[in-house]
Amino acid sequence: MTVLIAFATVEGQTAKIARFISNIAKEAGYYTRLINTDELSGPVSLDGAKRVILLAPVHERRHPGTFEAFITSHKDELAIRKSLVLSVSLKAAFASGHEEAHDYLNEMLLRTNFKPDATALVAGAVRPENYGYFEKEIVQHVVLLGRNIDPRDGAREFTDWDELASVVMTFLDENDQADLTSLK
Ligand SMILES: Cc1cc2nc3c(=O)[nH]c(=O)nc-3n(C[C@H](O)[C@H](O)[C@H](O)COP(=O)(O)O)c2cc1C
Repeated sequence: MTVLIAFATVEGQTAKIARFISNIAKEAGYYTRLINTDELSGPVSLDGAKRVILLAPVHERRHPGTFEAFITSHKDELAIRKSLVLSVSLKAAFASGHEEAHDYLNEMLLRTNFKPDATALVAGAVRPENYGYFEKEIVQHVVLLGRNIDPRDGAREFTDWDELASVVMTFLDENDQADLTSLK
């Protein structure tokens, strides 16, 4: 069975997460197809994919426009497939940030009018080597306000790879079981 993994990324962490998901799905016996929504010039066919995992980072409270456009322009094709949406942010790295991280995800789903079968928040990373002055200020003084983390100290990854693997495999396995039951 083929799993389509559609992602957007700005500094690279979500691309790394997408590759990780592809690798663990392949190890579990699935075929995978990776799509970077920033590289699309128009709609693509989702034929052949029975499951879809969509993931994107949050920058200034929103997921990238190309990612939202992908969801909006493929809504009918997505609606007939089992789907998991992962929202990657730094607020997701801290319990006190979860409410805000949920807001980003819910607002995106409201805007696109998309109702996935499952969703999860995923903690991203601080990658100062990819920031200009403006990005460094936003991350330090807005996103990480009140936390003892300084982008000048270098890259820091908050993604919990074990938890992510568990979310992805639960989504894939549960839906496999549902398919087998419906065939009985
Ligand atoms: C300019 C900028 C704005 C950001 N805004 C937010 C934000 O509003 N909320 C949040 O939780 N994380 C925010 N982040 C953190 C990113 O979501 C996090 O670094 C994520 O790992 C980026 O993924 P990417 O490398 O795939 O682009 C921001 C990061 C940058 C550089």
